[in-house]
Amino acid sequence: MPKILNYGSMNIDNVLRVEEFVRPGETIVAQSMEHLPGGKGLNQSVALAQAGAEVYHAGKIGPDGDWLLDLMEHAGVHTEFVGKAGSATGKAIIQVNHAGQNCIVVYHGANGEISKQDIDSTLQHFGPDDVLLLQNEINNILYLIDKTFEQGMKIAWNPSPFAPEMKSYPMEKISCFLLNEIEGYGLTGEQDPEKITQALLRRNPEAKVVLTLGKSGVLYRDADHSVRHGIYQVPVVDTTGAGDTFTGFFLAGITGGESIEEALRLASVASSLEVSRKGAACAIPTMQEVRSARLALQ
Ligand code: RIB
Repeated sequence: MPKILNYGSMNIDNVLRVEEFVRPGETIVAQSMEHLPGGKGLNQSVALAQAGAEVYHAGKIGPDGDWLLDLMEHAGVHTEFVGKAGSATGKAIIQVNHAGQNCIVVYHGANGEISKQDIDSTLQHFGPDDVLLLQNEINNILYLIDKTFEQGMKIAWNPSPFAPEMKSYPMEKISCFLLNEIEGYGLTGEQDPEKITQALLRRNPEAKVVLTLGKSGVLYRDADHSVRHGIYQVPVVDTTGAGDTFTGFFLAGITGGESIEEALRLASVASSLEVSRKGAACAIPTMQEVRSARLALQ
């Protein structure tokens, strides 16, 4: 089984529970506020580990972030490549409304202090059989893609949050795209799910493309397969981290030898369980929970 190096963000999520999202010019009172572990990188590492993958998280936290390391280690994530930065740990301000939907503002903090030397020294520990997972919440992403590709590793990319400069990234170096329709539109200019996947496959015909479609489930495409999978109906408490859970369970599935269909199924069950609980990383289920819920969620 390959090792997975997840070079990604670790955030402290400041989660405000509100009836409706605040509008421009408005002041509202939150029903509650919690400080929870998060960050797309951290959430995906926790999901990978809980799905059974051998995952190494790399990135930077500040002096206020040691508890995030404890949480990752407790979930089974290797953290020896996480460094300390001078600035504070990344932060997210998250509003969660009555329907469990969220809106998020992220501040990079320590996630923006990853140097090329940090990357070079981490990559020495990985080889061509291993996989790099990336999102878009840290600095030096292009350098990471180029260096990892040069050393023959496969690259899985969740281009989130979307930024316009990503359109010119070397997508021919990406082996697996894991994205939603907004990111797909941003990268390709296409709105139709089939056209998004086709446009990405034109950039790298050997890639796997996993396009999540909200309530319509997920569309998977590679050169030989096209597979769709629906969602499972559950009471929605908080959607924060659902995509990260899907990414972690899907990637753990395919790198662990599961079929595409089974990896999509496990990832869909895992993200359904995740949205039925509050928080991001804390809401990610274990593989045991996913396997038992799978029977109930047919
Ligand atoms: O995907 C959810 C995550 O996005 C949150 O945990 C927040 O930290 C932001 O990175």
